[in-house]
Amino acid sequence: MRENIVAGNWKMNNDLAETQELLGQLKLQMVKEPEATVMVAPSFTNLYPTFQALKGTPVIVAAQNMHESKNGAYTGEVSADMLKSVGVSTVILGHSERRAYFNETGELLSKKVKTAIENDMKVIFCFGEELEDRKNDRHFDLVEKQLKEGLFDLPQSSWKNIILAYEPVWAIGTGETASPEQAQEMHKHIRTLLHKNVGKEVAENTSILYGGSVKPANAKEIFAKEDVDGGLIGGASLNAVDFIAIVNSF
Ligand code: G3H
Repeated sequence: MRENIVAGNWKMNNDLAETQELLGQLKLQMVKEPEATVMVAPSFTNLYPTFQALKGTPVIVAAQNMHESKNGAYTGEVSADMLKSVGVSTVILGHSERRAYFNETGELLSKKVKTAIENDMKVIFCFGEELEDRKNDRHFDLVEKQLKEGLFDLPQSSWKNIILAYEPVWAIGTGETASPEQAQEMHKHIRTLLHKNVGKEVAENTSILYGGSVKPANAKEIFAKEDVDGGLIGGASLNAVDFIAIVNSF
């Protein structure tokens, strides 16, 4: 049985006071036993306060990035050990914003993924095509390339640590969502690729999240699709009412 997951990526939003306010609201409104595994990914400075505030709840705290080295002279970077020491066991890697604005390549992401797995961390691995790719019917190939570069050389045993997040770049923060049919079509393609490149069991057991303008109004329809196992939520995760409504959309 695949795990349903709803993860909120808060990106570079919310200072400490705003984070505490949002956490307070989330705790008030969250049902005791949600139908999905719930994760939130605050900025680095808010990881520890978030971990402390969510103790005793089922919500998992994730980081938005991580360096691939153990430690050393990498000014401005954060390691797996540092994340684990503040209660973080999951990391988002490969987000399109990191690929586009910070030049993160498939090769670098492959290293980061391996470091996370060596540290027993879970990875939410993001990938997805740009509008141009879709217009030119290259979206299936592009997604295959990103998965190949980042993940397909991992041994089968590592895949229990991997959560996939398909995020078409044209749908991120734009208000334009992939239709449930478009999401299902791509998720099915991804599962077929997993089957071919890694194995049947991994294909069946790996959760594939959809990300890109998911809102309370469209979450139910998207999550109802056979190969969609939840969502990676940006903008709507900054509002507790909306985020909880999305969590409750299964
Ligand atoms: O990580 C989340 C995605 O980038 C989706 O963001 O829900 O604001 O479109 P969005």
